[in-house]
This record gives sequence, C-alpha cells and structure tokens, in this order.
Amino acid sequence: MANLSQVYLNGQYLPPDQARVSVFDRGFIFGDGVYEVIPAFGGRLFRLPHHLSRLDASLAAIRLRNPHTAQEWKTIFTRLLDGTENGKSDQSIYLQITRGVAPRDHAFPANIAPTVFVYAQPLKYSPPEQLAQGVAAITAADIRWQRCDIKAIALLANALLRQQAIEQGAVEAILVRDGVVTEGAASNIFVVKNGALVTPPKGPFILPGITRDLVVEIARAKGIACDELPVKIEMLSSADEVWLTSSTKEILPITRIDGQPVGDGKSGPVHARMFALYKEYKQAFIQGKAD
Ligand code: PDD
Repeated sequence: MANLSQVYLNGQYLPPDQARVSVFDRGFIFGDGVYEVIPAFGGRLFRLPHHLSRLDASLAAIRLRNPHTAQEWKTIFTRLLDGTENGKSDQSIYLQITRGVAPRDHAFPANIAPTVFVYAQPLKYSPPEQLAQGVAAITAADIRWQRCDIKAIALLANALLRQQAIEQGAVEAILVRDGVVTEGAASNIFVVKNGALVTPPKGPFILPGITRDLVVEIARAKGIACDELPVKIEMLSSADEVWLTSSTKEILPITRIDGQPVGDGKSGPVHARMFALYKEYKQAFIQGKAD
C-alpha cells in the first residue's frame, strides 16, 4: 500500500496513511456498502459506462443514493490514474461506498452521509504460464446469500471459498448451488462444448460480470455460438474447456477441476481464439477505436 501516492476519501486526495475512516463506519461494522473494480488500459477506463451502471444497480439494491454523477466519478478516477507513477500503464480502480458513520444499529440511520473511498493500483496480470497451461479450480457449495448480483463489500463467504481453493493448490472455487454452477468466488464461469460457449444466465445468484458480458458480446459478433443457460455440475466433467473471467484475470482457462483434467487437460483452441479476439478489442479500445 505504501507505494500508492494518493487515495480519494470523501472529497479529499490524501496519502493512504493519512486517509482515516471511523471505527463506526457501517462498512466496518456491518459490511454495509458496495464496490466496483474498473480496469484502465493505457490510461483509458475500460467499459466505464458498464461499470457505472452496475454500480447504480448495486446502490439502488441497497437503497443508497449515488453520491456522484458519471462525470464526477470520471474526474476522480482520472486524477488518481494521472497521479500514479505509471499513469498510462495498466491500472485498476477500486471504489467503495458505504452507508457512512453512525452509532451501531441495524436499521438505517437518518441523515447519514456515505463514505466514498477510491484508489488506483497497477493491474497484476495472471502469470503467462497460467494463461498458457491453465489453472486448477475446485468445486464448492455456494454458501453465499441470495443477492449475489449486488457487488457488496461483504465478501466473507467469497474469501472463505477462495482460501479453500488456495489451500487445495487451486486458484479459484467454482460455486455450485442445487447442482448448478453459479460463478467463481471472484469470477464468472464459461464452459465450452463442441466449439460452443455456455455461461450461467444472469439472476440473483451471480454477479453480472463486465468481462462475462464482453465475452458474450464478442462471441456473438464473431459468430461463435454462446448460450446463457444453466450449467449443471456434470457439464464441468464433460466440457472440452472451462474458463473463468474477471476484470483483473481477464479470460483464464481452467484445466483441472477437483484434481481431474478438463478435456485433454490443456488450454484449448476456443480459449486461444476468444483471448485473441479479446486482446484485439482491448487494443482497439486503447487506440480509441472501441468503447
Ligand atoms: N471481482 N463474480 C464475482 C463474485 C466477482 O467478485 C467478480 C469480480 C466477477 C467478475 O466481474 P467483472 O468481470 O466485472 O470483474 C464475477 C472483482 C475483480 C474483485 O472482487 O476484485
């Protein structure tokens, strides 16, 4: 954290060690808040309108007013990106809004001001060998609540599940609810069978991932079959390829699940094609030729 030059907190740009939040912040006490993670490539905020509309949906779901306009958010993000040593290198913006500071009481306090915290940090890409060879995942029961579509800061279940994966030598936990795959602990899941993609449909049990939506969009634009349909757990063992997607991990092949190889256990050709198309899109975006 010490290498971050400035963070944004409630209207001020401060060195991180001078940014202070009350112990009575409802984010700290209740996990009462929402967040976003927005990548910036070559200094440009990737899919910003999509991230801001998901933020609006998260805020509305927890009944918080958006404290800033899109333009105000953009100003804050740009100043943080410009303030970093490598303003034009790949970064990610983390932003979090909590209901604010009040004596502990579950019910919403009247007249409370939200706490707004934002920082930028260099994007840590997956190591090249993970992209080339794929990664291991485990399956685990989806023990989370029934509003996983809200990007809530309360991530205890996600943290426990990710840690369980790490302790079993895997990088992600694929979550299963009533026999169907929902998503990863911090990613969305795609299954490939006979050249066609399947990803779980949106709904209360998954986060509508911005990377997921982009993969669906690219697939459809390029004539790659792509269905948003329930993924039964058995589909994992019969799949040719399984991928995870997120803003920070992009599109990563999963080549082992619960110790068993996925397909032939190697990163597959459909992933190679989709990742090339994704990189092409990203390059066009950096050059200002795509949104
Ligand atoms: N997490 N599902 C969950 C539960 C997530 O936490 C994430 C991302 C995703 C993928 O969404 P997107 O493509 O918009 O990044 C799906 C972020 C990266 C995080 O918590 O750090």
